[in-house]
Order: sequence, then C-alpha cells, then structure tokens
Amino acid sequence: MKRGLVTGAGSGIGRAAALELARTGAAVAVLDIDEDAAAETVAMIAGEGGEALSGHVDIAEERSVREAVGQAADVFGGLDFAVNNAGSSSRQRIDKLSLSEFERVVRVNLTGTFLCLKYELPLMKGGSIVNVASNGGLYAIPNAPAYVAAKHGVVGLTKVAAVDHAADGIRVNAVCPGPTRTPGFEKWAGDSDLIARQEAITPLGRLATPEEAAAAVVWLCSDAASFVTGIALSVDGGRRA
Ligand SMILES: NC(=O)c1ccc[n+]([C@@H]2O[C@H](COP(=O)([O-])OP(=O)(O)OC[C@H]3O[C@@H](n4cnc5c(N)ncnc54)[C@H](O)[C@@H]3O)[C@@H](O)[C@H]2O)c1
Repeated sequence: MKRGLVTGAGSGIGRAAALELARTGAAVAVLDIDEDAAAETVAMIAGEGGEALSGHVDIAEERSVREAVGQAADVFGGLDFAVNNAGSSSRQRIDKLSLSEFERVVRVNLTGTFLCLKYELPLMKGGSIVNVASNGGLYAIPNAPAYVAAKHGVVGLTKVAAVDHAADGIRVNAVCPGPTRTPGFEKWAGDSDLIARQEAITPLGRLATPEEAAAAVVWLCSDAASFVTGIALSVDGGRRA
C-alpha cells in the first residue's frame, strides 16, 4: 500500500486528489489549515472504505510543515508520495498591489511549496512528489502578478528538485491547472463575469472539474508515470495564453 499526503486537501483539487488516491488503495494524510474541512475529506474517504488521517498544517509556517509532514510519515511508517497543493491567490495589478499582499501570496504559494519539499524529500525513499502550480506558472494571468510570480517559482522549484533528487529515485513534477470549478476559484471569481470570460477563451469551451485536475496528480503519483520527472503538465483545456 502506498502512503502519502495531500496539502490543502479540505477543498477543491486537493480533496478530489485525496479521494482518488485513496480509491487507488493508498493511505492518505489529509492536511489543511482548516481542520474541519480536512476531517470532512477524511470522513468522505472512510465512507468509501479508504484509509486516511487528517491533520493541521499551515504551509506558510516552517514548524507547522515540519511537524505535519513528520507526523504523517511516522503514522504511516514512511511516505511514497506527496501532493503539495495548498495555495492562495489574489487579484490586483502591480501598481495597486501592497507589499504585504505580494509577500503573503508568495509566502503561501512559493515558500510554502519550498517548505513542503524541504521536509518531505529527506523522509522519502523513492516515490513521487507533485506540486500543484497553475497555468499562471507558465504564462500571464491578468491582474494576478503575485500569484503568477509565485507559481512560476513553483515550476522552477519543481525542475530543480527533480534534477537534484533523481538519484534518490524521487520524481518531482508540477501540474498546471487552468481555471477549475473549485470553491476557491468561485470565491476568487466572485459575481464577476470572469467564469464566462474564461470559458470563452478556453479551446475546450468550459472550466475543468476538480476531478480532471486531480486525475493528472494521481497519474504522476502512480507507477504509470515512472519515467516522468521535472515536467509541468498543463490541464487547461488547450489554453496557451
Ligand atoms: N481552481 C483553479 O482554477 C486553479 C487553477 C490553477 C491552479 N490552482 C491551484 O490549485 C491549488 C488548489 O486550489 P483550489 O482551487 O482547489 O483551492 P480551494 O480554495 O478550493 O482549496 C484550497 C485549500 O487549501 C487550504 N489552504 C489555504 N491556505 C493554506 C495554508 N497556508 N496551509 C494549508 N492549507 C491551506 C484551504 O483551507 C483549502 O482547503 C492551489 O494551489 C491553486 O493555486 C487552482
């Protein structure tokens, strides 16, 4: 049985990934800053007969990451995969963006992914790490400079970690979803016409479901992707800008 963790697994893509990984027979540590949401995901997995535990993590805080990752590895007796999915966005042009908001978004998305990698890699003896970046890790999203800068950084971290840890038998990849109908995205879009505009510029003509983004995560965690490392896999309905 594979053992691993998913951050931000209380909602959206992280929850869908945790559910699907559990369906493959894996034991999953469901980590989130929102403990009630994490417990809900665990109850959903348990309801399907899967194995999971819930835990608190704030990926922006080093001690929290060290403890949460260490506990998951202790309870399961090791880690075979890790999905670094938790993230946070903001909408503000550079000239209107405060330094504190820029630093908050970089801290969660980029520093948070760095901290997860830092504490996961030494605990893994082979296996697979997937960082959930974004289409904003590959090209511009208007009005999202902090998020786009951070997610480009996540793709960069992924490439370096893949090269540096290949000899340890650890694969490291990124998934880059385009707009995906999650609670986080719907909150971000608000009551604007953003969803309709995103659908209009997506070749496949709609937003992704969380399950479609999660499917790429699950594949990269699996042995079917055993010769795949250092990639940024788009799941964006054909968008290239
Ligand atoms: N939904 C999209 O359109 C989309 C597109 C591209 C990339 N992404 C990325 O996918 C990932 C998941 O997004 P989602 O849309 O499912 O979001 P979501 O808001 O629905 O879920 C995010 C989860 O992360 C948790 N979280 C937030 N900050 C955290 C922290 N500091 N520590 C631990 N947990 C934290 C939240 O409590 C929540 O449960 C994010 O990294 C996001 O940037 C999403």
